[in-house]
Amino acid sequence: MKVITSIEEMQTISKSIKRDGKTIGFVPTMGYLHEGHLSLVRASKKDCDITVVSIFVNPIQFGPKEDLSKYPRDFERDKNMLEKEGVDYIFYPKVQEMYHSDFSSTIIVEGVTKNLCGASRPGHFRGVTTVVGKLFNIVMPDKAYFGEKDFQQLVTIKKMVRDLNFPVEIVGMPIVREDDGLAMSSRNSYLSEEERKSALCLYKSILLAKDMIKSGIKDVKLIIKGIEELVNNTPNTRIDYIKICDPETLEYIEEGDIDGKKLLALAVFVGSTRLIDNVILEG
Ligand code: PAJ
Repeated sequence: MKVITSIEEMQTISKSIKRDGKTIGFVPTMGYLHEGHLSLVRASKKDCDITVVSIFVNPIQFGPKEDLSKYPRDFERDKNMLEKEGVDYIFYPKVQEMYHSDFSSTIIVEGVTKNLCGASRPGHFRGVTTVVGKLFNIVMPDKAYFGEKDFQQLVTIKKMVRDLNFPVEIVGMPIVREDDGLAMSSRNSYLSEEERKSALCLYKSILLAKDMIKSGIKDVKLIIKGIEELVNNTPNTRIDYIKICDPETLEYIEEGDIDGKKLLALAVFVGSTRLIDNVILEG
């Protein structure tokens, strides 16, 4: 496994892999890896000849009051994990390598970025699409792997790739959870013991919604009310959003029964840590 820090070197390597007729699978990450990230790596290893993982805490996708400076980092640990998985290259650039001091071009995907996290985190998806677009131009992958954990991110990247004709196939992978159901996230490391217990309310919300539907309650307002009660009765929590929406357009469904496949997405602050989770409900 080789660690590449220069954009030019990564591009040279990718071109030569392609010249040899081999396929490149790519997993973009911000590091502090866990089994969720590794599930993407394993899918890439299975599908593609060469697997590239990027580790880059992308400053432009964090808001001014967000956790950029304290975002967890442990490159040596990440490197060991990726070595064990048989990854071929880690792309690990410095911020100055990715963003020149006069950097002024961005990618904006409209529509699907308006709601959910896009509404709570202005500028976040512009930061995500800009860095992912750059990474695609640097790594030149045939396939790129994203988790459904960040459902809106996955939908947004798919839209960007279609609208702007990036020659890459986007593969979405299911959410990997801890044994008790908490969705794995680098940010879980911020949680105190007490908060870790409270964090389970996100997964419990998903189970509650599924149970309600199974028992014949499909009304969107009733389901959201049930989840609000559950979360509000959990210590250390504050709801950012609980929404049911169309899984393709991410438009909110405010009333009526759940009919067909709909996305339940929620973001909850547990202490000062913002956690997200989602599920496809079937009415
Ligand atoms: P990061 O949060 O490190 O996540 C990297 C990838 O791992 C994303 O595609 C995310 O959806 C996936 N992932 C995280 N937790 C997961 C879980 N529990 N199960 C399955 N997949 C999971 O998402 C980002 O980084 C950044 O926004 C990035 C795309 C790298 C751009 O900076």
